[in-house]
Amino acid sequence: MKYQVSQQSAAEVQAACIVVTIDQSGKLSDAAKLIDEASNGFLTQRFEEGDIKGKSGETLLLPAVSGIAAKRVLLVGTGKEAPKATSAIKILNAIANATLKREGEVALAISELASDELPESWWAEQAAIAFTGNSYKFTETKPQPEDAPKQADSVSWIGSDVSAALLKGAAIGEGMNFAKELGNMPPNICTPTWLAEQAIALTADSSLETTILDQEKLAEMGAGAFYSVAKGSSEPGKIIVMQYKGAENADEAPHMVLGKGITFDTGGISLKPGAKMDEMKYDMCGAASVFGTVKALLALKPKINVLAMVTSAENMPAGNASKPGDVVTSLSGKTIEILNTDAEGRLVLCDALTYGIDNYKPASVVDIATLTGACMAALGNVNSGLFTQDEDMAEQLQSAAAYSQDKVWRLPLEDDYQELLDSNFADMANIGGPLAGATTAACFLSRFTEGTPWAHLDIAGTAWNGGAAKGATGRPVALLVNYLLNK
Ligand code: BES
Ligand code: MN
Ligand code: ZN
Repeated sequence: MKYQVSQQSAAEVQAACIVVTIDQSGKLSDAAKLIDEASNGFLTQRFEEGDIKGKSGETLLLPAVSGIAAKRVLLVGTGKEAPKATSAIKILNAIANATLKREGEVALAISELASDELPESWWAEQAAIAFTGNSYKFTETKPQPEDAPKQADSVSWIGSDVSAALLKGAAIGEGMNFAKELGNMPPNICTPTWLAEQAIALTADSSLETTILDQEKLAEMGAGAFYSVAKGSSEPGKIIVMQYKGAENADEAPHMVLGKGITFDTGGISLKPGAKMDEMKYDMCGAASVFGTVKALLALKPKINVLAMVTSAENMPAGNASKPGDVVTSLSGKTIEILNTDAEGRLVLCDALTYGIDNYKPASVVDIATLTGACMAALGNVNSGLFTQDEDMAEQLQSAAAYSQDKVWRLPLEDDYQELLDSNFADMANIGGPLAGATTAACFLSRFTEGTPWAHLDIAGTAWNGGAAKGATGRPVALLVNYLLNK
């Protein structure tokens, strides 16, 4: 989809649809007033007749309004007071939903919603994300969905020159759609090998270099934690390394992002119950968010170096699968007693952390993982869990989350919790018992990041939707892109 800025007036723009706003007291925006005047008070009448109440996110589509160049007018409610970020995003999604069904140009005359807190560039960026996001539909294994994918040809922003914000929003939206596509793909297609192929396909862009480490090579290198998970599947595990080099100095230390890519998590010998087990195909959504972030970086070409890594395997019960009680040696040399084979995410992550940090000396590290049911229980599907002992990292991720509304909530990672991982037979156990499950998982990872600024995002609750909207959300691509662009 194309995004552009237009200086035309709301009454004169020749679009398939012009979008203007009304609040709950019936007050029309200045752009809406132009249309109202050109049409002998048609919009005012709609409010007076009760066709629209002006509630936040309410929409009324009006075809063929006389005196107006656009084919249709979409009147959108903005509520009682100037919209805050959460309702702003709901309003933009309502606009995208109501206007995307038809071909042609959608013109947005909504710049008056901007405020000191939410400037016009923020609205434009979020609008581009909403339009791009709403035009996504999974069709790979359902080529004839009941409702066809929606697509307008172009979206015009009537107002100041916010073209950079529109580009950024479109890139984030496309990155999120890519992450959704990978997350939604069935696990018989989306295997570690298939993910590696996605990474290779992205190297069509010369600012990206990809290296694939396969399972046998990793075992030889001593990545016994990764191997303990990967070996139980006939789909070979991979660690995927994508180097985006945008900085003027190619040797500048990169910022590392690492995604958990378990393409299916049965739990292994500590088998999960059967109900909803299909959802464990989403256990690669951390990896998907890394892919989506790379896609956005390639579109935006920021002058930074990013080390984007994915650690991918299938967690299966098998004759040669790891057993509770097994002790393995990680790439760092630390030994791990596997008490529960369903705590596999931390096992594939810890060796990838060691590999990335030792070989590329990153300036900072963020890992992203659907790591614990405990985090989902604590935060639901609103906030991702943020764990770090580094105050700068916390501040950077929290401010990127607030700006993008791809929210995080900081949970504790104090040394006091570390003893829950004590083992009589190894340097640590891979689980910490029933208490503080999201924190003990983060404590485990912290032992492989010492000396490097590091943060962990647990996206178990935010990476997908259940119910009717079942599917991947594309989170936290918006957060990661904003975080990296601020570097
Ligand atoms: N992939 C799961 C976590 C998960 C659960 C993500 C539900 C999304 C929805 C992870 O590998 C796992 O199984 N974690 C265990 C850890 C436990 C054995 C310490 C969990 O959360 O139950
Ligand atoms: Mn598991
Ligand atoms: Zn898992």
